Amino acid sequence: MPELAATPPVIAQAAHNAQPYDYRRFVAKIVDVYDSPLIRAYCKARFTIININILQMLSLCLRGKKRILDVGCGFGLFGCYFSSMYPEIEYCGYDLNARRVREANLAAERLGLRNARFNVGDARDLAIDEQYDAIMMVDLLHHIDDTAKSTLLGICASHLAADGRLIIKDVTTRPFFKIAFTWALDVVMTKSFDMWYWNEKRFYQKLDRHFDRIEMYPITDWLPYPHVIYLCENLADRDSDAMEPGATDRR
Ligand SMILES: C[S@@+](CC[C@H](N)C(=O)[O-])C[C@H]1O[C@@H](n2cnc3c(N)ncnc32)[C@H](O)[C@@H]1O
Repeated sequence: MPELAATPPVIAQAAHNAQPYDYRRFVAKIVDVYDSPLIRAYCKARFTIININILQMLSLCLRGKKRILDVGCGFGLFGCYFSSMYPEIEYCGYDLNARRVREANLAAERLGLRNARFNVGDARDLAIDEQYDAIMMVDLLHHIDDTAKSTLLGICASHLAADGRLIIKDVTTRPFFKIAFTWALDVVMTKSFDMWYWNEKRFYQKLDRHFDRIEMYPITDWLPYPHVIYLCENLADRDSDAMEPGATDRR
């Protein structure tokens, strides 16, 4: 982990969940370290779209995992959130956009986070050597084409520890009004019409090649995004009959 410049940390202590924590203030502290009003507005929007319920689901997916890779980390918003919440983790983010990566590292430095670092990298050609306990991708996959997406899933699977987890948050293709809204927003944000959305069936087919167990959690809220979280793992004891509720098993 590279040494960061000594800046007075904005978040000196983790927001422990032993007692209810002030989520809004915690998130506001993260958003406030970004200089640009535009980036702050974007970050507020992301914390609304990926709301506290989704973040807490992702937190549970990450439970007990130490070395975490975030592909398509953007401005490092959720990397800063998880690294602040869980000082014991080692968080490494990659994004194609060098400016976003710069802002992410600056945000981590200002927050006093020594357990988060962000690098420039292309998910279509991800060169990583390390093994990770969890790999997450939040709204990345629909930005890369189907062939690259399939390759990336294979790379992720091969860089996970035996008890590692792949955690994907992406959008599915129904209902129509939600995916139409999501598409329009993606076009505006990326200034491109190139989006490759997969529905749950497609994700399942591709993930099934690499993982014993794939859990899918569609998330319904008032916002027009057809969110789904996929939690993928390999079973340490493949002979075990134990299955958790909600899981599909390819045995
Ligand atoms: C919708 S944003 C999500 C960012 C972040 N995960 C979040 O949830 O706030 C998608 C991100 O994927 C990044 N991205 C798009 N194509 C990529 C690629 N080929 N390799 C790495 N990152 C990519 C974009 O730069 C952008 O930051």
